[in-house]
Amino acid sequence: MASPEHPRPAPWWERGVIYQIYPRSFQDSNGDGVGDLAGIERRLDHVASLGVDAVWLSPIFPSPMADFGYDVADYTGVDPLFGDLVAFDRLLRAVHARGLKLLLDFVPNHSSDRHPWFVESRASRSNPKRDWYIWRDPGPNGGPPNNWTSDMGGSAWEYDPWTRQYYLHAFLKEQPDLNWRNPEVRAAMTDVLRFWFDRGVDGFRIDVLWHMVKAEGLPDNPLNPDYRPELGEKFKVLQLHSANQPEVHEIAASFRKLADDYGDRLLVGEICLPLDTLMRYYGSADAPGVHLPFNFQLMDTPWRADALRQVIASYEAALPPGGWPNWVMGSHDAPRIAAKLGEAQARVAAMLLLTLRGTPTLYQGDEIGIGEVAIPPDRVHDPQDLRQPGLGLGRDRSRTPMAWDAGPNGGFSDAEPWLPLHPDWATRNVAAQEGERTSMLNLYRALLALRRAREALSIGDVSLLDAPDGVLDYERSHGAERLRILLNLTGDRIAVPWRGEPLLSTLGGDPEPGMLRADEGLVIA
Ligand code: NOJ
Repeated sequence: MASPEHPRPAPWWERGVIYQIYPRSFQDSNGDGVGDLAGIERRLDHVASLGVDAVWLSPIFPSPMADFGYDVADYTGVDPLFGDLVAFDRLLRAVHARGLKLLLDFVPNHSSDRHPWFVESRASRSNPKRDWYIWRDPGPNGGPPNNWTSDMGGSAWEYDPWTRQYYLHAFLKEQPDLNWRNPEVRAAMTDVLRFWFDRGVDGFRIDVLWHMVKAEGLPDNPLNPDYRPELGEKFKVLQLHSANQPEVHEIAASFRKLADDYGDRLLVGEICLPLDTLMRYYGSADAPGVHLPFNFQLMDTPWRADALRQVIASYEAALPPGGWPNWVMGSHDAPRIAAKLGEAQARVAAMLLLTLRGTPTLYQGDEIGIGEVAIPPDRVHDPQDLRQPGLGLGRDRSRTPMAWDAGPNGGFSDAEPWLPLHPDWATRNVAAQEGERTSMLNLYRALLALRRAREALSIGDVSLLDAPDGVLDYERSHGAERLRILLNLTGDRIAVPWRGEPLLSTLGGDPEPGMLRADEGLVIA
């Protein structure tokens, strides 16, 4: 039993670091220009060499790829583009053989419109699967049943002329929302989780968890008084009734119970909500929710020391008892860190992400500092961009292939890759950075090694310290071990009276006593 004198040992995912792989863009093994499972297996040594603990794969399931795998046509298979179940089992064994864990992406809010469940559901109003999705009669004027908007733009309703009703889709019309108030849906999806847990999968990232339940009666959402067209149509209304309903917590708790029954598995929930509501997804002592409700705060915070300090303080203060923190800075949906901050501050960001208290999630390619990639108009694939062009909502720029070496297509594929590589791939690639002592790649490795070696960093407490303008200063401590982290968020030298032994500088070389160099982050013992 855990007690204050004998605290429970930290589970692997509290000490651990998650690495997100976007399978289409990691490594192609069969020359079709798209990454696959055998390719990921081939590059596992890179993942292991970073020093991360778990790999999360964006969806690998059979899909028409309207939303690049987030439209699932079969929850218990592998899309032929990526391989098959045999290739999956081989990859899972290879991941485990390296002492790593494997997380899959569970997409429960919606399926593909080609999923046999939806094909049946739309066949007739009396089909036994009709109620597996959310169908409604047209509104009084023959239009959509309410004013909900899709996150990808336009109405969240699509009219089906055959059965003369609308179905709901929070994302593309090719992604109809499942009806989680129907017990048969819950049972079928629980079987999906069991299928993968039984195969040995170590957990899931759960796509748009907060969207899964809608208010009874589907009332109109309030209009957003701050809406501006350049934000995208998603923001026309406030998603008061279309998401984040109280019943979702009971579903999250049932997923958690299943994961806990299997033992040592991890559930990460994708939730984009303000802090106080986000925290509810940890659940309660009686009914725990997901282990880690994703914390995207760093992505939305201006890159200033005072703003970051405020975010860290309020996030830490909002955590429920026993709730373990986590931090995310990059993903397949967000702009690249180096594109937003530039190379010098991207190094500082790496130090921040890997020295804060809580489980970090790294996104593939950030470890070599991939920056902005301009996608030529004729190569845009992202439906969010194609549906609302010119708003800068494109996600392709963060989904471009990894560059492994200076060979053709960066070693990613023998064929033309599905998206272009970053413009400087010939010099910004894994092989080139292996050989540079102070490369971004070696900085990530050094940070991850330090995190692993020092419990103060992996599981210790955090205290924010007062600091000069432009500097973020905090301490991590565990038992007698104390480490100080000083981050200079500016391009100026700043005097900070630090003492002690510098363990790592983002700039390499010798730190200057009592000083932070421009764009320097320091870990000091
Ligand atoms: C969140 C995923 O990260 C994103 O890529 C996807 O488009 C939506 N959920 C819909 O599944």
